[in-house]
Amino acid sequence: MILTIATTPFEGQKPGTSGLRKRVPVFQQRHYVENFVQSIFDCLEGFAGTTLVVGGDGRFFNREAIQTVIRLAAANGFGRILVGRGGILSTPAASNVIRVRKAYGGIILSASHNPGGPDGDFGIKYNVGNGGPAPEKVTEAVFARTRTITEYRTLDSADVDLDRLGEVGAGAAIVEVIDPVDDYAGLMQRLFDFDRIRGLFASGFRMKFDAMSAVTGPYARQILERMLGAPHGTVMNFTPEPDFGGHHPDPNLVHARHLYDLAMSIDGPDFCAASDGDGDRNLIIGNHAFVTPSDSLAMLAANAHLAPGYAKGIAGIARSMPTSRAADRVAEKMGISLYETPTGWKFFGNLLDAGLVTICGEESAGTGSDHVREKDGLWAVLLWLDIVAARRQSVAAIQREHWAAYGRNYYSRHDFEEVETDGANALMAQLREGLVGLKGKRFGALEIAGADDFAYHDPVDGSDSAHQGIRVLFEDGSRIVYRLSGTGTSGATLRVYIERFEPDAAAHGLETQAALADLIALGHALARIEHFTGRREPSVIT
Ligand code: G6P
Ligand code: ZN
Repeated sequence: MILTIATTPFEGQKPGTSGLRKRVPVFQQRHYVENFVQSIFDCLEGFAGTTLVVGGDGRFFNREAIQTVIRLAAANGFGRILVGRGGILSTPAASNVIRVRKAYGGIILSASHNPGGPDGDFGIKYNVGNGGPAPEKVTEAVFARTRTITEYRTLDSADVDLDRLGEVGAGAAIVEVIDPVDDYAGLMQRLFDFDRIRGLFASGFRMKFDAMSAVTGPYARQILERMLGAPHGTVMNFTPEPDFGGHHPDPNLVHARHLYDLAMSIDGPDFCAASDGDGDRNLIIGNHAFVTPSDSLAMLAANAHLAPGYAKGIAGIARSMPTSRAADRVAEKMGISLYETPTGWKFFGNLLDAGLVTICGEESAGTGSDHVREKDGLWAVLLWLDIVAARRQSVAAIQREHWAAYGRNYYSRHDFEEVETDGANALMAQLREGLVGLKGKRFGALEIAGADDFAYHDPVDGSDSAHQGIRVLFEDGSRIVYRLSGTGTSGATLRVYIERFEPDAAAHGLETQAALADLIALGHALARIEHFTGRREPSVIT
């Protein structure tokens, strides 16, 4: 039943910030998925007879890709393949299943927050045995393998019924279709005080959670509405759709604007939240209180001890380099370590495994902890709810008090999407070349204290990652960071991250873009963005 099929390499099967992402038609080419998945298996050792977890965010092509992965996994010698019912597993839930079932690893089918559908995006990501994304040395080996592959092994077998729970055979392997929600909901119940949150809802607390027609619908309904007693209707857009209902499943202020408007309206809900296509990102907006992802990391870290799962305190905090330094102030006050890593959740894995940090977060709307090895959208929502319930305060009050205690880091990201790759590379190159001359330069009240091309040395495995973004640091603690996105599927996306620290509570009520105006103007000018990209204005501001 095992077939060995001859194949030739495809160009560009290079995993980016988070796995291989391409347009659906690219993945639909004959042998394309097979080549990539076989290349992953070719880079792994000692997995014969072990367990592989497979699941995705339900987007278009999810089911087809899962059948392919099952056939290849069985033909390559995995003993057991665990698949979420309907092919569904949110990314954090997949991470959890890998861990609790002691799997060898997992294959997650997702393009995260990118649009889905026949013309949308698709993605494949490999996660290792700790439940986290494969480290760079693995993804680089996989890429190298995709360039030399000559054959793959698969089964000549019928499709597995993904909608029926239980076990079936696939060649010599067993495929087990599991409930995608159960284990995950149990984990959340152990981390948070469900009685306390239930009490919050019983007292009339009003919430809206937008699952954006993506993977978190079934999780949010089970946990928020059934287990925690939130009123029916709390979870919106809860049916996962292959094209996410035609929407962009990115919970930011552009694509989830309606939630922002709702939270800012008179008589709006106490709490609005959303998650992305695969359930690892989060958006948190209290009534009249938008919480930036960077602030959310800081506030969750400062209050995590209120939740039972973190009652003994947190060991340390990690954030990606472009994430604001709000969390640094919390770490400093708590006397714990703060780690600054390159963009990409995979860099947190070693720190979490080594017990150096408990909570991690990124400006790109990801927060998580050592409970799994992925960022986790619903986890962040539940931790916020537990903190609100414990402190008996609104999000706005918690935020105000946090800023008063630690100062406020005004923060914004300007994205220039789908610009020409050559221009974007040239922009980064000229910035890099000009770095040495920047120190000491003055622009009005702003003086540059230093500038560098961020490089990371992993304290656990000793690996080095260079060229992770240009940092321009100012004497007053402000910062401008430039990097190119590693998750786009067409052209290049330039991200400019702008941050200013404001210690004075009397100045904490400004509108963010206004508070950052001089830095924003300087940020555009320093990098000569218009010259290199032809764009005067960013396409997205978050
Ligand atoms: C994914 C990764 C994150 C990363 C984000 C933005 O969501 O899991 O770790 O922060 O992409 O990456 P980008 O390279 O597009 O800025
Ligand atoms: Zn995601």
